[in-house]
Amino acid sequence: MTIAMNHRPVTADDGCQDQVLLDQWYAIDFATEFPAGEIHKVTLLERDLIVWRDSDGQAHVWEDLCVHRGARLSKGWLENDTVICPYHGWRYDSAGSCVLMPAAPDEKPMRKARAFPYPVAERYGFVWVCLGEPAGPVPDFPEWDDTAFMKVHSGPYHYDGNGFRAVENFVDASHFPFVHAGYNGLPDAPDKLEPYTVTELPDGSLRSSEVRVFQPIGDARGRPVVAFYTYTVFAPFVGYFSKRTVDADASGAAISETSNTFTTLFAVQPLDATHCVVRVCSALDTLPHPEPEAVRERADIIYHQDRDIVETQRPERIPVQLRYELHHRTDLMGQRYRSWLRGKGITYGVI
Ligand code: FES
Ligand SMILES: [Fe+2]
Repeated sequence: MTIAMNHRPVTADDGCQDQVLLDQWYAIDFATEFPAGEIHKVTLLERDLIVWRDSDGQAHVWEDLCVHRGARLSKGWLENDTVICPYHGWRYDSAGSCVLMPAAPDEKPMRKARAFPYPVAERYGFVWVCLGEPAGPVPDFPEWDDTAFMKVHSGPYHYDGNGFRAVENFVDASHFPFVHAGYNGLPDAPDKLEPYTVTELPDGSLRSSEVRVFQPIGDARGRPVVAFYTYTVFAPFVGYFSKRTVDADASGAAISETSNTFTTLFAVQPLDATHCVVRVCSALDTLPHPEPEAVRERADIIYHQDRDIVETQRPERIPVQLRYELHHRTDLMGQRYRSWLRGKGITYGVI
């Protein structure tokens, strides 16, 4: 049984207290999942939130909590850009201020009669929220504004597993031949990984040098490719890869001079320490562009395979003490990711 099932923290003094994590941006869903006119419920780091849009289309994310007697605002309703609490009808404007207490309609509501709003950003087709003070901007997705790249969203993928382990799996190339047999590698002829390096960039993100692998069905085009992955971890729960691909023959030999690029932003919404939701946005410049549906179908196969293996990992919370597991040089990216998490002083969701 998870902590979340026993206990639901409702205030900022409860639940995840890791300031480093609270100060991050989290993609809480695709922007299209929050149509105007409705109050939507979302869970992030054990906290229950509401999302709603005002008539300008601006998304608002608040605690799912009325300060009066603690009723859930998600059970309330919207009227003229205000949220109405279902219990005593207190009405909150888009800035979160109570503007009407129906039992005392002539009184100006107290200054403390406020909702609990959080910083919100809408980028790359996701709504992002920060539960603290944003430590920086939403991570930069380099290809998003480049019109040569088609963009495809995939997911959500619900992992009954730890969000850090989901990110580590995303930046791990040596599982391809086994977890993604026939797609990203061959179990009977697994790639030998050459040594690569991992660098912490001036903006604090972690980046690998290129990792070369053979992929029998490297992307939605359905052809064999030699792929060169460059992995980046932008934030504890946001990964990214840029994959340069060269056409290959069935034996894995490169047969073209030109390369295409396939990139993916991997955004994890930690529900609690051992459950998360993964959503991805891919950007690719392969011509002709494959059908978005084909890209999504392949992503569904790959991420379900990843989910199935991440859900088996024990301990469920990722060990950031390196002595708890065995690290090989081919695991350098995951190893550095763990040390990087430990260096930030993160204690939630790790052991
Ligand atoms: S609990 Fe919300 S108005 Fe009373
Ligand atoms: Fe994988």
